[in-house]
Amino acid sequence: MKLTNETHEQEVQQATQEVEMRKKKIVDASYRLNYHFMAPSGWINDPNGLIQHKGVYHLFYQHNPYGVNWGPMHWGHAVSKDLIHWEHQPVALAPSEEYDFEEGNDDIGCFSGSAVSKGDELYLIYTGHVGGKSPKEVQAAASSIDGIHFYKHNQNPVIDKPPEDLSQDFRDPKVWRYDGEWYMVVGSSVNGKGAIPLYKSEDLIDWTYEGEALEADENQGDMWECPDLFPIKDKHALIVSPMNMADGKNIIMVGEMNYNNGKFTPESVKEIDDGNDFYAAQTFEDEQGRRILIAWMDTWQTDFPTKTEGWAGAMTIPRQVVLDGNSQVKLLPAPELQSLRENNQYNENIHLSPNEVVDVTRNDLDHSYEMLIDFDLKKAEPYGKLGIELRVSDNRKEKVLVYYDLKTKELVVDTTLAGGDTHSSLNKTKINVKDQLSIRLFMDTCSLEVLTADGEAWITNRIYSDLKNKGTRLFTEGTGVIVEKMETWSLKKVIE
Ligand code: FRU
Repeated sequence: MKLTNETHEQEVQQATQEVEMRKKKIVDASYRLNYHFMAPSGWINDPNGLIQHKGVYHLFYQHNPYGVNWGPMHWGHAVSKDLIHWEHQPVALAPSEEYDFEEGNDDIGCFSGSAVSKGDELYLIYTGHVGGKSPKEVQAAASSIDGIHFYKHNQNPVIDKPPEDLSQDFRDPKVWRYDGEWYMVVGSSVNGKGAIPLYKSEDLIDWTYEGEALEADENQGDMWECPDLFPIKDKHALIVSPMNMADGKNIIMVGEMNYNNGKFTPESVKEIDDGNDFYAAQTFEDEQGRRILIAWMDTWQTDFPTKTEGWAGAMTIPRQVVLDGNSQVKLLPAPELQSLRENNQYNENIHLSPNEVVDVTRNDLDHSYEMLIDFDLKKAEPYGKLGIELRVSDNRKEKVLVYYDLKTKELVVDTTLAGGDTHSSLNKTKINVKDQLSIRLFMDTCSLEVLTADGEAWITNRIYSDLKNKGTRLFTEGTGVIVEKMETWSLKKVIE
């Protein structure tokens, strides 16, 4: 197969040098995260091309190496043996061809997409985007033998326009193999509603349009970005990131995929994470057969206070997607994260009366910790609140609250008092709790991921509290409760 590429190689080299140069300038970046993936410098958004290829995990991502704002899109790249320790690699894809580059136009680039292994080769399928052109979005392929240097195919674009009835928004191809065929879903819209065109191929180059796998209903957004359709047990799941959906931003549907007529029929739908900062989730099946999910731990709607430090954007911790029963999706933190634990501290049987506060601050944790709290609810009232205050300031005015509301049966993360540049919000999600509640949380310098220990509910937020705010306090309101067990570990710093 003949491959193009001189310009691409030059662009890749230049972008990689720029990242290195900018990285040197990040000297006192206090909000750099300890164990969440970030680029060495510059802007990042969606995770792309997640895959385990020949034993190695690859994480690509939407990246502007030239600044802290979204701009001409490149694919940044890192590899890992354990999903936790990531080694940065040269930029994998840079805008360079007429379908992903235009002189003087910044609204261009190699937009989101996915990766597959084809024999020994690693293929990236992505969207070439040139704003203002018609069509503005096409699908393209690049491949690599060493897993580091990627060559854009000279048959590109492999899909040169959207299907006739669909809109010009036509991006984020996700490719998978099923029953000896390659399939691709693309994010798009039809008549102001999200839509998922489906394609089929034998060689990843010639694609035939198979119709729409699914269309949004009138409440599910006017464009679906970053679709991901995959088998899970004997069902299929479809993840999409809807634009302009009233009460959703990244949903997962479980249902049946009919490969004969190309239709996906959802049987359940749920928000994957009820926090503010969770978007463009992508999954892959690793060599152990696990379905791993990583999302962009930000959104388009928020500010990025770390821009002044020379970087913006990060990924969530890796989460394993499991199907419980027939259609209940749960997400569990990848077990590999346990290798970061150290300095564990264990408390049990803490009795709290109504309206009590118990200080459990550990000054050694440095905003990088995991916490597990088991509440015994048997004697609690059917109303009131119980939970924990985090990042509490010395004068106690600033804090982040994580609690369970017994009356509404909601898990709540309240950042309205967090202080600093934190986006103030009250995130709530109904949970299914009876006699016992287990809350697990992952704190990092400027992020908080809270989940119920069974993986049913998640709330992910970026928090930009003053780094001096170190207090941690259990609290109750209107009810007493017994904290059966509370365990904290500091989590090692593994990300530069
Ligand atoms: C989602 C998204 C994708 C697009 C990419 C551009 O966050 O808008 O649809 O490919 O970001 O960077």
